[in-house]
Amino acid sequence: MKGSEKVSSQTSDLRTQKEFSEELASLRNKNLLRTLTSVNPSGNANIKIRGQVYTNFSSNDYLGLSSHPQIVRAAAASLKKYGFGSGSSRLLSGTYPPHAELEEKIAKFKRTEAALVFNTGYAANTGIIPVIAGRDAVIFSDELNHASIVDGTRLSKADVMVYRHRDVNHLEALLKKLFNRKSARRRLVITDTVFSMDGDIAPVNDLTALCDRYDAILMIDDAHGTGVLGKSGRGALEHFGIKVDKIIQMGTLSKAAGCYGGFVAGSKDLIDLLMNRARSFIYSTSLPPAAAAAGCKAIDIIDRKSVRLRERLWKNRKRLYDGLENMGFDTRGSETPIIPVLAGDVRNALRLGHYLYENKIFAPAIRPPTVPENRCRIRFSVTAGHTAEDIDKALECLKKF
Ligand SMILES: Cc1ncc(COP(=O)(O)O)c(C=O)c1O
Repeated sequence: MKGSEKVSSQTSDLRTQKEFSEELASLRNKNLLRTLTSVNPSGNANIKIRGQVYTNFSSNDYLGLSSHPQIVRAAAASLKKYGFGSGSSRLLSGTYPPHAELEEKIAKFKRTEAALVFNTGYAANTGIIPVIAGRDAVIFSDELNHASIVDGTRLSKADVMVYRHRDVNHLEALLKKLFNRKSARRRLVITDTVFSMDGDIAPVNDLTALCDRYDAILMIDDAHGTGVLGKSGRGALEHFGIKVDKIIQMGTLSKAAGCYGGFVAGSKDLIDLLMNRARSFIYSTSLPPAAAAAGCKAIDIIDRKSVRLRERLWKNRKRLYDGLENMGFDTRGSETPIIPVLAGDVRNALRLGHYLYENKIFAPAIRPPTVPENRCRIRFSVTAGHTAEDIDKALECLKKF
């Protein structure tokens, strides 16, 4: 390389570093810089941060299964047997007995013909959507759908129509408008079941009827519904009493199951197609077998032994929700253990988050781009592990804010 080229590449390196610094400074100036907090579990819903105990209201471990002794034992036994890494993608030598067992269990649990496990819920959404919705498709997506759905739609070659949050009339108007369009040969409606930042529930029954009427495919993201909704924790379809096997059910093991890994449950043909076409499934080393073994145990527990845990979860949810409502907080129509407390702009949300932190309550402010600028909030996430005292402490603290 000639001397002058070397100098110019160094200059460009310096320029890039300077731009990185400027971008970070701009985030800092807007109060949007994010940093990481290291936590240690400290029993039930408690965590330790720098030696101090905090009540954690920011975990999606709704049933407290992440530390369940049977799940920990299942993972440990699998580690001994298979080691840690799987060494390969699922289609090569990365499919171990726990992966296959987990898929069978998920299909049974979700009452579908088959299921496929992805490495995360994020990988599931970004893998599934481009396969079902190609160039000749239109995707209809709720405006508050999770970022992984948004990214899935960005990776797909389909047109995307965003409908107003939970607004079936708006969705119907869009479906009607595009019904006869050639480029909309396939129509895919996608929704979170439980919205991750607002905690309200999609009208899945109405969406099912609309999809029937307009010959559209319905895909639900049941990440926060699985283990939480329905009498036996099967999720949104059980909650609404819907028995339609053509609905594509995506979910994750990282929330109420207390484990790790995403999944999709549906027809055998859908699963076989995804196995052949979903890039996040094909081109990534498979989930460590121990994570799959833990997931198997978690599904068993949710399926057979989670009624009492769910009762506790919903009782806790009611205690916190009623308390917040009585104090007049805007909880955005939450219907689930995800309860937002609207704070307005970034500054106010940060102020509330810091105040809670000073009072040993861990519930960080949620800021853009996760939520719109004027709808920053504290997102309380209640679990079965909280005690009545934990919840009352949070309420008491908020009362004094
Ligand atoms: C609605 C929704 N879908 C998908 C995901 C992604 O799941 P995972 O954490 O397993 O990647 C999340 C988690 O943040 C979520 O809230």
